[in-house]
Amino acid sequence: MPPQPLAMSSLAALREGYERFDPRAYLQNNYLPPRADFSSEEFVVPWKLRCLAETFASGEICGRTLIDVGSGPTIYQLLSACDHFEEIVATDYLAVNREELGRWARGEPGTFDWSPFIQHVCKIEGRGEPWQEKERRLRGRLRRILPIDVHRPDPLGAPLRPPADALLSAFCLEAVSPDLAAFARALAHAGSLLRPGGHALLLGALGESFYLAGAARLPVVPLAEDDVRAALAGAGFALRDFRSYAMPPALRTGVDDVDGVFFAHAQKPPEA
Ligand SMILES: C[S@@+](CC[C@H](N)C(=O)[O-])C[C@H]1O[C@@H](n2cnc3c(N)ncnc32)[C@H](O)[C@@H]1O
Repeated sequence: MPPQPLAMSSLAALREGYERFDPRAYLQNNYLPPRADFSSEEFVVPWKLRCLAETFASGEICGRTLIDVGSGPTIYQLLSACDHFEEIVATDYLAVNREELGRWARGEPGTFDWSPFIQHVCKIEGRGEPWQEKERRLRGRLRRILPIDVHRPDPLGAPLRPPADALLSAFCLEAVSPDLAAFARALAHAGSLLRPGGHALLLGALGESFYLAGAARLPVVPLAEDDVRAALAGAGFALRDFRSYAMPPALRTGVDDVDGVFFAHAQKPPEA
């Protein structure tokens, strides 16, 4: 067999790695204590939820459809978003993750318990909403759970019609890209799903080179804050807000080597 170009072979290796991705182990590593500890805003999960709650509280980001790119087996990232869109489209490359999300959306028993997350978001949103109502709203609005591959120029295999009013992606693009160039391309591909003038919200890992999900040890392209800013500018986005969080020593548990987390709010320019 002739030698493959580097980008091709490292993408193939990444895809092979994801065949061993274990949703349960991933959830346990990242969405149970110590990382998902709601007793203080110093922990990483409350920090992520606050970034999203504060950004959606402006009321500026709303519309018919929000697409979440690389949802994985998680829904925490959709809890503030779901109040502002008629439909939430979740996506993932792996069938195991799409199935896990589908089971949660249908309210089947034995799925991950997101209720502490929902309760916390209701608390910080401060509207006195019973958490079960938010849970019901998200389940009702999570109507499509689609396969996606951000390495394709058409990540869904066909254009999203109409394009999304907002795009969200959490910890996906850097975790599926062998290098910075692939990360920037993946961001541009995901951005093509968004309408002109639409908003993009990104959460992601800073300075991370790997993470574990059961038997899978997934490589991650280590990002600096400026890499994220440059990729957003390169994909044609205007940056509206950028925040970062340093991972405290107590949360460096060995399930990855992440240094911190970034949150970016960016906007696609309206059509001229
Ligand atoms: C680190 S997880 C992030 C999951 C979740 N969004 C979160 O916030 O925890 C990365 C996700 O990217 C998905 N993924 C892997 N390859 C992908 C690809 N080529 N395109 C889109 N998503 C991909 C994985 O299946 C996994 O669910």
